[in-house]
Order: sequence, then structure tokens, then C-alpha cells
Amino acid sequence: MQPKTLGEFVIEKQHEFPYSTGELSSLLNAIRLAAKIVNHYVNKAGLVDILGATGEINAHAEEQQKLDMLANKLFIDALINREIVCGIASEEEESFISIAGHNKDNTNKYVILIDPLDGSSNIDVNVSVGSIFSIYRRISPVGTPVTEADFLQPGHKQVAAGYVIYGTSTMLVYTTGHGVNGFTLNPALGVFYLSHPNMKFPEKGKIYSINEGNYVHFPMGIKKYIKYCQEETGDRPCTSRYIGSLVSDFHRNMIKGGVYLYPPTSKHPNGKLRLLYECNPMAFLAEQAGGKASDGNRRILDIEPSELHQRVPFYVGNKEMIDKIEEFISIYD
Ligand code: AHG
Ligand code: MN
Ligand code: MN
Repeated sequence: MQPKTLGEFVIEKQHEFPYSTGELSSLLNAIRLAAKIVNHYVNKAGLVDILGATGEINAHAEEQQKLDMLANKLFIDALINREIVCGIASEEEESFISIAGHNKDNTNKYVILIDPLDGSSNIDVNVSVGSIFSIYRRISPVGTPVTEADFLQPGHKQVAAGYVIYGTSTMLVYTTGHGVNGFTLNPALGVFYLSHPNMKFPEKGKIYSINEGNYVHFPMGIKKYIKYCQEETGDRPCTSRYIGSLVSDFHRNMIKGGVYLYPPTSKHPNGKLRLLYECNPMAFLAEQAGGKASDGNRRILDIEPSELHQRVPFYVGNKEMIDKIEEFISIYD
């Protein structure tokens, strides 16, 4: 039997969306389209002039890659012309973009936050990268311009979130708060098919994903946790796997069982990852897949954001493993 397409699935599940029915379909259509276009470019990365740096520095003093900028533009273009989002915040834009809509009446109801290309350091070496999105219903009154407060909502208010992984195959994985479903792109047809229904972290996890090159800068609790993972007892030692692209590391850990860690370091005292368009969407997905996401002490989805590009220490994955990380942090830090 032919699996369901993403389009069919979204229509079938429309009733699960708490607001008006057609809106989620429109939004996901825009994201699906952007994903296909970005995928098209990522796939011919070595053939066209999109490898390497632009020579520009982004809002976080990081070197911008050409594909970062291209993915940013492609996502914004796909989203801007639909009467659905009133604002877009992106890793690659210092401030949010306000969208008044075709009639300039500010009636669009959603805001979206994106990491258009996650894992930029992998682009030039043909390793998986991704895109991340997080969607909220606006809190400012419909009919008025979007405000920063619309974007600074805690993660538990997300109405949908997901990622695209441009890997050996391209997948779109998303949640609207009713579990996590994954769709694989058939590149010949340009159609996403439901390939991973109701994704769940396995009960037990064995993988830990962390940039161990930063070991000397980690807090004591994390150093001790890494040593704990390496001990030869019971079902340990764990296996270490680190791609350096949150999307890809998360995706593997959700399927195989594991945790991703980005603790505070001396270079990044608040961690490196961005709360609004990296941690919150992944935390929403993790919880919906039976996992857990924490900053070491708090549930990620309960953090009240104060800045668009705010960073936060991030631990996400199998619930049991995250519980253990929190235990080590509470004992040693
Ligand atoms: P981005 O490419 O969007 O800037 O994100 C990169 C992030 C994350 O995806 C990845 O896991 C992490 O940075 C890697 O950081 P290190 O190179 O410091 O390990
Ligand atoms: Mn990223
Ligand atoms: Mn990025």
C-alpha cells in the first residue's frame, strides 16, 4: 500500500489543530515548499557557487556561510507571501521581520522562528545539515503590527515545531502537540511520504553527543557525567557520536536512543545554542517523542525568553539519561 503523503496527512489531522483548520495546512505547505527548494540547492552544493563563506559576520559574530544566507532567503520568500505569518525571526536576521500582509491590515495570526540552516560547518564537507522551525500564535491583537513579545513566548506555547534533515535522504519531522511524525522526500516525485509515524525515543539510550574538545571548559557535573557514560558497568559504556549539527544528532538519538549536550563553556558561558529557534522546537519534539529537554535545572519549555537570540545550555534526549545529567549537575555544580 502506498504510504500517505504529507499533504494528505496534514488534512487528515487538521481537527487536532486547536485553531482554524486551513491555517496549519497553509503554514506546513509553505515550510514543505521551502524544504524542497533548500534541498534542491543542498544537493548540488558542489556544482554551483554556494560553498564557503560570504565574508560577512552574522548577528552572533559568526562567519556566515553562503548556504546560510541562501536558505534564509528561501525560507523567508516561501513564508512571506502567504496570508499566514505576521512575523519571522531568523538566526540570520538581527531583528524580526514584520509582515503586514497583502491588504496591509496585519491580520495574519502566526509568528515563525527559524534556524534556516543548522550545522553550517558541515556544508562544505558533504555531511548532513538541517533547518528548524518553531510556530506560535501571536499574542498581540490581530489588526496591529507584530511585536517582539509575539516571539518571546515560552516554548510550551508553541503550536507546531519541526525540522528538515538533508541527509542520505531528506526528511521533514514535525509535531503539533499530538506526537511526532516523520516524512521522507521521494526526490523523483518531489513528494514527502509518511515514513516514520509516531516517532518515540527508545526506553533506554546508549549514545551521548557532545563536543568533547571543550572538555576542560565543562562544568564539573558534565565532566563527571561523561566519565559515568564511559564506565564499564551494566549497560555502559555508552557510545559517543557527534555530527556537529543539532538536527542530525537529535534525529539519530531519537531513533537510536541517546542524548545531545551543549553545556556552558568559557567561550559560551550560557551555552551556544539559541533558545527560540534551536532549543524550544527540539524540546517540543523531544517531549512529544517521550524524551526530555533541560537547561540542567529547568524544563526548556518553561523558560520565559528575554531576547530573540538568547542562548541557553541544552540537554535533550532520552528521559532517563537527561534525569541522570540533571542529577550530576545538582550534585557537582
Ligand atoms: P548553526 O549551524 O545553525 O550555527 O548551528 C550549529 C550548532 C549546532 O547545530 C551544533 O550542534 C553546534 O552548533 C556545534 O557546535 P560546536 O562546533 O561548538 O560543537
Ligand atoms: Mn543551528
Ligand atoms: Mn543556522
